[in-house]
Parts: sequence; C-alpha cells; structure tokens
Amino acid sequence: MAFDQEITRQPLQHLNYFMEWGGKGWQRLMNHAFQDFMGKDLHDQQLLEIGTRYGKMACLFALLGAKVVGLDMNKKSLEIAKEEAIKLNVADRTSFIHGGGDLASVSANTFDIVFSKSVLVVVPDLVRFLEEIKEKLKPGGKVVFLENAKGPWWVHLLRIFRHHAKWDHTKARYFAAHEIKAVSEVFDEFTIRSWAFPPIVLMMARKPHYSDDQT
Ligand SMILES: C[S@@+](CC[C@H](N)C(=O)[O-])C[C@H]1O[C@@H](n2cnc3c(N)ncnc32)[C@H](O)[C@@H]1O
Repeated sequence: MAFDQEITRQPLQHLNYFMEWGGKGWQRLMNHAFQDFMGKDLHDQQLLEIGTRYGKMACLFALLGAKVVGLDMNKKSLEIAKEEAIKLNVADRTSFIHGGGDLASVSANTFDIVFSKSVLVVVPDLVRFLEEIKEKLKPGGKVVFLENAKGPWWVHLLRIFRHHAKWDHTKARYFAAHEIKAVSEVFDEFTIRSWAFPPIVLMMARKPHYSDDQT
C-alpha cells in the first residue's frame, strides 16, 4: 500500500509524519491529548489550529473527522498546507487562512477545539491572545497547547551548548512558568502534562460553560 494511503487509513499510527519536528516526547504528549482529552473521533468537531504552518496537524485532525481551519501569518506556508490537504484527501474538511497576528479573521463562539503547537511562545501579548482564543471557542470548548518548556537551569545550559553552533540561543524562547500560569488563569479545568527531556508542556483546558463573552 502506498505510504499516503497508509497514513490516511491509520493516521494516529503515523504521528511522526504529522508532527513535523521534534522527538518522541511531542508524540507521546499528543497521544495523551487524544486519549485523555480530545478523543480520537473528531467528527462533528470544529477545530481551529493557530500557527498551522505546513498544515500537517490540521490534516491529521481532518482525517479524524474534524472540520478544520488552519490559520497562519505566513502566507507561503499555507500554499504548502493546501497541497498537503489535497494529497491526503481532506481538502473538503480543511480551510487555510492567512492571519495578521490576531484572530480577527475567525468568528466568535465557533470552535469546539483550538489547537496550537510552538506558537504561544512567540506571541507578543500572551494574555490578550489567550482571551481572543477564548472568545472564538464555544462554551465548554477545549484548548490544547504544546510548547517547548524552559525546564531546569542545567537543561537550559545543555541546550545552549548543543544548539550554539546552529542558532542564536539568546533569541530562543521557551514557555516559562508564568506563561503556563497565564493559560491556567484564562481557562477552566486546566491540566498539564510534561515531558522531561527535552522539556515540553502539554496544556489542556476549557472555556467556561458560562462566561462573560456570551452576555
Ligand atoms: C515555530 S512555527 C510552528 C509551526 C507548527 N505549529 C509546528 O509545530 O510545526 C510557528 C508558526 O506559527 C505562526 N504564527 C506565529 N504567530 C502567529 C499568530 N499570532 N497567528 C497565526 N500564526 C502565527 C508562524 O508563522 C509559524 O508558521
């Protein structure tokens, strides 16, 4: 069977294909998110992926049945995302839209799930962005965020040595404790799973069933 057909048939067996970079920790945490929070059957779910880039995760969610909007600030990457959706036969369940850094292009109270991976860490005003995400969710809607975490000092030091030659480590950003706290304060039923090495955090939470946004 051709590889594309195989991943289309059993997408969760091929998380390494959909999670574009990073090691096993990302995949383990994502598996937790499916198993313990999102479920593996996403039919009837409207899902927004923020920072979809090449659209692979968006296609994975669509293969599991969701109707997916993939948003990104990078217009070029969205062309690749659209091709990916055609390749995996989910173009009818995905739309990719260009955003200017906020969520103005998507409607309020629309999504059952908002997902993002390695995006919140680069958002300039995190709390404001989280409030915007909350506004776009239906009451009780879920958020699933995956981020590189800062980890203990010695891990940070190791990262500096390891990556020193490849990129400017002084510009590298990792999700810090106060940012995790911000997520926990904006949403309800916050839970966190961590991966130790390299440090990664999975944050899962919900928009309150009754919130000020609907009054
Ligand atoms: C580090 S990449 C991660 C891409 C993908 N989520 C992944 O994990 O492979 C960050 C992506 O988020 C996009 N991005 C950053 N801030 C954004 C925002 N405010 N709204 C939409 N996209 C954003 C960037 O253009 C980029 O494609």
